[in-house]
Amino acid sequence: MLTVALPKGELLKNSIRLLKSVGLDFSAFLDSGNRQLQILDASGKARGIKVRVSDVPVYVEYGQAQLGIVGDDVLREKKPKVARLVDLGFGGCRMSVAVKASSAYKSPLDLPTDCRVASKFVNSARDYFQSLDLPVEIIPLYGSVELGPITGMSEAIVDIVATGKTLKENGLVEIATLYESTAMLIANPLSYRLNKDGMSEWINRLREEVMSEKAGVKG
Ligand code: PRP
Repeated sequence: MLTVALPKGELLKNSIRLLKSVGLDFSAFLDSGNRQLQILDASGKARGIKVRVSDVPVYVEYGQAQLGIVGDDVLREKKPKVARLVDLGFGGCRMSVAVKASSAYKSPLDLPTDCRVASKFVNSARDYFQSLDLPVEIIPLYGSVELGPITGMSEAIVDIVATGKTLKENGLVEIATLYESTAMLIANPLSYRLNKDGMSEWINRLREEVMSEKAGVKG
C-alpha cells in the first residue's frame, strides 16, 4: 500500500488539502483530539504517517514511505537521497541571516571574524559562511533561535523567515538571504523507478493539480 509521509506543523494543513484534492483524504490528522500517527485515507487506498518535518525525508529515503511532503529548506540542510518531484508552491519562506536591529552589522561581511552564529540549520549556515570565506562558530540550537542575539550568546542567526513577524517582535533584522524555500513532493528513488503501488498515477495527479492551482493564481 502507498504510504505518504506528512509533515507536522506549518505544512500539514496545505499538504492535507492538496492530497484531498487528488483523492487521498487524511483530514483525520487535523482533528485536534486525534493522536494517531498513522491512518488510512478515507477510501482505504493509502496510508498516511504524520512525522516531524525533518523526519519526512528519513522515512522516504529508507522506503517506509514512498512519497512525502517536506520543505526545501530541510532537503538543502539534510541532503537526503530522495527524488524531488514537484514544487508544491505553498509553505513559502526564506533562509536568512539576521542580527539585532540595533547592531552595526548591515551585511554578513560586517560580522567579526570568529563570531558566533546560532542556527537550527547548521549545514546551511556553515556552507554559507564558508562561501563568504568568513570563519564563524556555528552554535546548534533546536528552536527559538532568535534568543541567540537577544541574550548575547551569538552575534547573528541563520533561520527561516516566513512572515517576518518573529524577527520584528524580537528586535532583529535580516541582513542576507541564503535561499528561498517552498514545500516539495519527494519520493523514494527506487520505489519511484519501479512505480511501486502505482505511485506514478498519484504523482501525476498531484503535479496536474499544482499546475492548475498555479495557473489559477496567475490567471
Ligand atoms: C520558525 C522559524 C522562526 C519562525 C519564523 O520557527 O525558526 O522562528 O518560524 O516565522 P515568521 O517569519 O512567520 O515569524 P518555528 O515556528 O518552527 O519554531 P521554533 O523556533 O521553536 O523552531
